[in-house]
Amino acid sequence: MLDISTIRDDLKTQYDLAPNPKLAASMETEYARMARVVSPVDWAVHAPYVAAINTLKRQRNAAILAHNYMTPEIFHGVADVVGDSLQLAIEATRTQADVIVQCGVHFMAETSKILNPAKTVLMPDMQAGCSLADSITAAGVEEMRARYPNAPVVSYVNTTAEVKAASDICCTSSNAVQIIRALDAETIIMTPDKYLAQNVAAQVPEKRIVWWEGSCIVHEQYTAQDIREFRDWNPGTRIIAHPECPPEVVAEADFSGSTKGILDYVSAERPARAMLVTECSMASNISDAHPDVEFIGPCNMCPYMKMITLEKVLWSLHTMTTQIEVAPEIADKARLAVQRMIDLSARQA
Ligand code: 13P
Ligand code: SF4
Repeated sequence: MLDISTIRDDLKTQYDLAPNPKLAASMETEYARMARVVSPVDWAVHAPYVAAINTLKRQRNAAILAHNYMTPEIFHGVADVVGDSLQLAIEATRTQADVIVQCGVHFMAETSKILNPAKTVLMPDMQAGCSLADSITAAGVEEMRARYPNAPVVSYVNTTAEVKAASDICCTSSNAVQIIRALDAETIIMTPDKYLAQNVAAQVPEKRIVWWEGSCIVHEQYTAQDIREFRDWNPGTRIIAHPECPPEVVAEADFSGSTKGILDYVSAERPARAMLVTECSMASNISDAHPDVEFIGPCNMCPYMKMITLEKVLWSLHTMTTQIEVAPEIADKARLAVQRMIDLSARQA
């Protein structure tokens, strides 16, 4: 476990990280991207970290791959690539950097390593897990196979390398429907997200989808009643839900999609008001590019995503820790499942 006091003390001896309004003012371009959601006082705190990370990144030939749920100072301040799980996996195969710093959760770093065995992949906090990835093991996949012989296993990327290795193909929120439709099978096993599976099943009624009983601790909190009450309170608001939400929540929404799908929908539709039924930082991160859209509540935080901070990113690059390792025999099998997904998505697109 990372001891934050030790990290802080050590970093202080190497970098000047005190709040610095002068430096903050000199970094106008970086600040402009987050000025709507980060106050000047907070920017003065973040700026020394952003400057140090960006310098170190160049020295190490590192690229920062950041998920859409990262805080705005990471998302706009230090990331080289931002996106949903599928975009990050694809970008991991394209980067010319020697080092990838994964600003997201552990399964995302593992996916980058699986796709780039020769590169160094750094995870700023190894405790940043995911309730979905924690819900199933490779033995669970085998249990499903025994229950539904001959049914292919489609595992969400929110799984460990071992689970990916035990699966036939992966999917993300943005391509799950495509993948399920493309598989030549009547019965298909989806793991580990029961809600994603149920939401896909509603769109692909011609297939029988069976699922593992996992769920996301952030999205499962929303209820259909919440959404109805919100609509009554704020009529005309466009309600956009992530497919990890329960199906009755998705049914109440105007649109459902992956985090990239949410961004694309907002960019295309430009509603006057929008409610994103997903993690807090999503609205903060896209609000800058959409000043004409008013984003209103609710706000559920992913405790895992929020373990990644500027301080830990700097520490990770400074010490080149923690390096992700995946045993080659697991990585080789997991790569097949991830690569099949990437190839199938590209063909369908
Ligand atoms: P996306 O692929 O939509 O970004 O989702 C990843 C995730 O963990 C959402 O909770
Ligand atoms: Fe996992 Fe949910 Fe957090 Fe996404 S939001 S990383 S699915 S716990």
